[in-house]
Order: sequence, then C-alpha cells, then structure tokens
Amino acid sequence: MDQLVVRGGQRLEGAVAIAGAKNAALPEIAACLLSAAPLTLLNLPALSDVDTMLALVAQHGVRVERGPARVTLDAGEANGTGAPYDAVRRMRATVLVLGPLLARFGRARVSLPGGCAIGARPVDLHLKALSALGAEVSLEGGLVLAEAPAAGLRGARVVLALPSVGATETAMLAATAARGETEIVNAAREPEVADLAACLRAMGARIEGAGTPRILVEGGRPLGAARHEILPDRVEAGTYAVAAAITGGRLELTGARLEHLASVGAALEAAGVQLWPGDRGLVVERAGPLRPVDITTEPYPGFPTDLQAQFMALMATAEGTSLIRETVFENRFMHVPELARLGANITLRGTAAAVRGGAGLRGAPVMATDLRASVCLVLAGLAAEGETTVNRVYHLDRGYEALDRKLVRCGARIERRPG
Ligand code: EPZ
Repeated sequence: MDQLVVRGGQRLEGAVAIAGAKNAALPEIAACLLSAAPLTLLNLPALSDVDTMLALVAQHGVRVERGPARVTLDAGEANGTGAPYDAVRRMRATVLVLGPLLARFGRARVSLPGGCAIGARPVDLHLKALSALGAEVSLEGGLVLAEAPAAGLRGARVVLALPSVGATETAMLAATAARGETEIVNAAREPEVADLAACLRAMGARIEGAGTPRILVEGGRPLGAARHEILPDRVEAGTYAVAAAITGGRLELTGARLEHLASVGAALEAAGVQLWPGDRGLVVERAGPLRPVDITTEPYPGFPTDLQAQFMALMATAEGTSLIRETVFENRFMHVPELARLGANITLRGTAAAVRGGAGLRGAPVMATDLRASVCLVLAGLAAEGETTVNRVYHLDRGYEALDRKLVRCGARIERRPG
C-alpha cells in the first residue's frame, strides 16, 4: 500500500485546478441506466471511486467509453441483473444503481451496503422512498430486492425523515420513471443533488426545485441522449483552501465556486483567512495569525461533514481552543488519535471535539482511516515540523485526483512511496 511522506514547513503558493465533483459523478454514472440512449459526462474526475462505479454499471451491460476527463455511457444493452457484493462492499454509493435499475427494468437486486468506518450508514430512507413510489421492497440474504407493480411506478409524495443526500437522489432517479408527479419533501439541498437534477433534465426529465427542500418530478417520460458537465468539487476546493490556510500561503483554486463553499468560507474568514473570487477561480490566502473557530457540521448549506477533519487539522494549529461538533455521522472522529500522534491536543466529548491549538505539530507516521481523514493528516503534515508518513493512501486516491502532485506543484515537499 502506497504511503505519502510529507516534510512540513513549506508555504504553499500557486494555482490548483479543482476537478469535477466525486459526489455528483457517482449518481450521474448511475443515472445512465435510466435510458437506452448514451449519456456523456464531462469534467469527470480521475478517482478510484469513479472507476468502481464505472466497473459496476459495466457489469450491468453498460458500454463505457472513457476519454480525458470524460466518459460516454451507453446503457442500450444493459440488463437488470444484481450487483455483486464486492463492488457494493468497496463503496456504499453503489447503492445508487438501485433506483435506476428499478425504474428501467421494473426490478432490481442490489447488495445491501455494509456500514463503513464513519458509521452504520443505513439505506432505510432509500427503500422507503421506493416503496412510496409503489415498489415492493424486501431484504434477503444481504440483498435488497425491489419490484415495481406490473403497471410500473407511480408518482407520490416522498417525505424524507432527514435530508439524506443519497435517499434524495434515489427518489429523484426512480421518480423520473414514475407516472405522474412525485413530490420529495425534506430533500437534501447539496449542490450535487442540483447537479444530478441538471443531468437528468438534460436527458429529458422534468424536475423542479432541486437544491431546495422540495423537489417536484413529472415522471413517466422516456429519457434520451445527453451531455452534462459535472460541477466542480466543493470538498476538494475546501481541502485546498485549508492547505493554503494551514501553511500561511496563497492558492488560486481554478474552477471553484465560492457560493458552494459559503459556510466554509465564513469559518475560514473567522479564523483569519482571506478568500475572494479571482479571475480564474477562488483565491485563498492567510497572512496573519490563525484564530480558533467553533463549527458544527450540518446538511447543506451548513458546514459540510466532509470538511470537518480538514478544518480540525487547521484548528490544531490555531492560537486557542475551538469546539468542533459532528452531527451528520456517528463516528467521524477517527482522525483524532492520528492527529494526536502529531502533537495535536484534542479532547473528545461525545459528538464534540475540543481542539486546543497553539503548540506546534511534529511529524510522525500516521494511519489513514477514511477518505477525508486521510487528507486531514496530509494537511497536518504540511504544517508539522519534520517528516509525516501517511499510510494507506488508497483512501486518498478514492476522492482526490493527484493530490500529491497538485500540492508539490505549489511548493509542498511530498513523496509518494509505493508500498
Ligand atoms: C453523501 O453520503 C456523500 N456521499 C458523503 O460523502 C457525505 O458525507 C454525505 O452525503 C453527507 O453530506 C456521496 O454523495 C457519494 P446521507 P450519503 O444519506 O448519501 C443517515 C465523502 O467523503 N441515513 O446524507 O450516504 C446516515 O447514516 C462521502 O465523499 C439514514 O439514516 O449521506 C447519516 O447519518 C462520505 N438512512 C445521515 O443520514 C438512510 O437511508 C446523512 O447521510 C440514509 C442516510
């Protein structure tokens, strides 16, 4: 397993190209199953999670034609057979093929995704949404079995118990094939949900309100060929904004959109970081001292859980104590003991972490546990004195395109050692 060796103390300076959003690319790849006509996705990020999703739809008979930062998906010959467990075990987002398979073929068999490092991550809300549209849903031997009525799915009101991103996407995907109108209430408002809706509209679907808590879908119309450009990845952009802040540097994040980072931008500014729209993207600079800032993770537009670990690394180097509360996932503090190995002073109290910054960080070997925790350790290593070795870097490659190369180009001293 590869490892990254980071030698800290370099101020980062330069431009970073922000790639297409992983969490939009994954549902949009699944969306190709809805139609017999080809779907071309542009600005496709080069990530192992994208490879996993493409391999999965290919196992369902989709013809996959990849180009530079793009893919054309032709589901004309696709079939509705079940998704083998290994793909689903590796990445829970593969459950997103459930809605499209049910919508297109009237039935679906998908392995029930196990939990993952950050929490149990059930899919009960996905299944309730499909039942509301008329599907018979059952669980058997670790498989989800879903069957549409002979007359097909029908539009309905889907009320989500919580604004789940995945459940909102499953409901929207399936609703495109449900005759009549579907109303999704308490929908997730993440930009990736709105981007999926834009992709489905390009395919011919009638969807309004995506990005708000109430989404309306007029279903039952056949979907056609489409091209869609994936929006930039706000989590990648936020990660590099922290890289600029933690090294006291200045980065221009080309392609990043400030409006998608609003709550993160506000927290960074409160910490003494400057952000402004440049001519090619978002400029992030930190010149003065870092101040402690309290944050609570929430569904969009609140502070994103996917940037909590990165912000904690930053707060570990600020002058003072900050309180970081995680309300979205039940176990998303596994980076805390690893940050402590670098000298961070963090006390956990249930869903809150008190981060006492001020003392400098010192390099050490650390272990990545999940995608965002792994990048938090690289960020801490950029600020630590000496050498930090981050192990299990495959977590990083799931969600960050060429992270080490992008940072080295801005002055970081990082070496990838094949493991
Ligand atoms: C999406 O996961 C993202 N993944 C996650 O990013 C992100 O952290 C999460 O949304 C929250 O923003 C993709 O989009 C592929 P949820 P998802 O359903 O859809 C509970 C990353 O690092 N829940 O909004 O799985 C769930 O347990 C990943 O890129 C249910 O109880 O998140 C969690 O506590 C990590 N029942 C909360 O809702 C359900 O049926 C939010 O989960 C579904 C979810």
